[in-house]
Amino acid sequence: MRSQPKPGILFTRDEIEVTVKSLAAEIKRDYQGRHPLLIGVLKGSFVFMADLIRLLDFPLEVEFIRLSSYGRAMESSGKIKVVQGLRAKVIGRDVLVIEDIVDTGLAISFLLDYLRKKKPASLKLCALTDKPSRRQVPVTIDYLGFTVPNKFIVGYGIDWDEKFRYLPDICTLEDE
Ligand code: IMP
Ligand code: MG
Repeated sequence: MRSQPKPGILFTRDEIEVTVKSLAAEIKRDYQGRHPLLIGVLKGSFVFMADLIRLLDFPLEVEFIRLSSYGRAMESSGKIKVVQGLRAKVIGRDVLVIEDIVDTGLAISFLLDYLRKKKPASLKLCALTDKPSRRQVPVTIDYLGFTVPNKFIVGYGIDWDEKFRYLPDICTLEDE
């Protein structure tokens, strides 16, 4: 385990702003008038979700769900469960899941299966980042912000052991 990881910028706040605007434009085009339910996956998606919904100026609902997390590890254990559930009903809704990063794909495919069983009218995924080099299960990302290299990333809501969420840019962790 690295002792003193140091963040280096991968995508700047300006690049993030441009990308979030274009994702919002796509989502608005597809969901306007459908009163979608946007489900943010805690905690990593909260900054992205906050920026995204302020660009979606039409009626929608916001919910959050929390899955068991990595803790201190940089690797997914592969055993995923819901640790904080939904209050809104999913049945018959147009559901759009908002995720920070799709890495192995294990967490999001678990969540999409979990939500599919609740019979939404539609179910799509919006991910800020994708690390395709690490994929273990296939995942369709309907709205994608950035493809990232096979490095651990932090910032813009994304953490390493609860650290670095506050960084305004998306960074990689480098050893000191
Ligand atoms: P997956 O199940 O391997 O696709 O990853 C699930 C979750 O692990 C993601 O939603 C993130 O919250 C977290 N995660 C994966 N890769 C990274 C990373 O590079 N930095 C921070 N968190 C990550
Ligand atoms: Mg996550």
